[in-house]
Amino acid sequence: MELPKYALFRGRIVPYGEARLGVLTHALNYGTGCFAGLRGYWSDEEKELFVFRPRDHFKRFLDSARLLAMELPETIDGLLGHLQDLLRAEGLKSDCYIRPLAFYADETIGVRLHDLTPAVSMVAFPFGKYFDNDDGAHVTVSSWKRIDDNMIPARGKIAGSYVNSALARSDAQRAGFDDAITLNKDGHIAEGSVANLFMVRNGSVVTPPITDDILEGITRATFMTLLQEEMGITTVERSIDRTELPLAEEAFLAGTGAQIVPITRVDHRPIGGGRPGRLTLALRDLYFEVVRGKKAKYRSWCQPVYAAAAAGAPAPA
Ligand SMILES: Cc1ncc(COP(=O)(O)O)c(C=O)c1O
Repeated sequence: MELPKYALFRGRIVPYGEARLGVLTHALNYGTGCFAGLRGYWSDEEKELFVFRPRDHFKRFLDSARLLAMELPETIDGLLGHLQDLLRAEGLKSDCYIRPLAFYADETIGVRLHDLTPAVSMVAFPFGKYFDNDDGAHVTVSSWKRIDDNMIPARGKIAGSYVNSALARSDAQRAGFDDAITLNKDGHIAEGSVANLFMVRNGSVVTPPITDDILEGITRATFMTLLQEEMGITTVERSIDRTELPLAEEAFLAGTGAQIVPITRVDHRPIGGGRPGRLTLALRDLYFEVVRGKKAKYRSWCQPVYAAAAAGAPAPA
């Protein structure tokens, strides 16, 4: 992976190499941080970089920080300003990924969330696919359970909780699968290792509810809106049993990194004949038009980086 040229670090844009931390940093030792993951999409037609739903990502970022009892001196507007400054400094003219991080920065020993000082960083770098195989994934139901909201807040993007995803994803990939599906404490399907899950079963589009230990995904919300507004389909939010998945007509993963990945097999059983479903493919086409700013109706989700700079706008609306 190509390293970024710059980082937002302790309130300033600095060369990436200057954004350094000591090995005693609390968040590095105890996982006491939270992060966000945004994508920027380059539009060749408009010669513009569009960041997708940054307000919603920053809202969840600040919510995740609150779950860690962090008092961040940041607002959504302030973070949007940092994002613009960083992207303009980086000068990216390609699809990219943006990683804001809030972390307890104290170099100290002692497990706790209080009497610590948080810091914020942000970097951006060119990025393509997250899933090597995003045309038809073969997934396995993991023996690792999804973290339970009473263990680590499941609805937040808490750094330490990603050990759970990493265990599930690596075991799955080393066994030859593309990704892992985790079950929650009740044995219901939670999500993929880095994405939410949807299935089409008996003609209904179904996704687990936000009370089933899932991350409250922004892509999940995007697809629910697009399904409703563009296809007249109301997504059913209900718990999903593991044995429903191989019986589904279609299934897909949805996440900022993953984007939309059709699931075509689960534990060697084909889903919907083992090929991406019609609805999944239609949604995929629609999604890529939306994120590149081609759909006027959803243009407000796409934050332009360079036009705003040319117009002298200090920070996006
Ligand atoms: C565990 C997990 N679930 C779901 C998602 C999807 O969330 P979003 O659509 O907000 O990127 C992600 C992605 O970041 C994730 O890491």
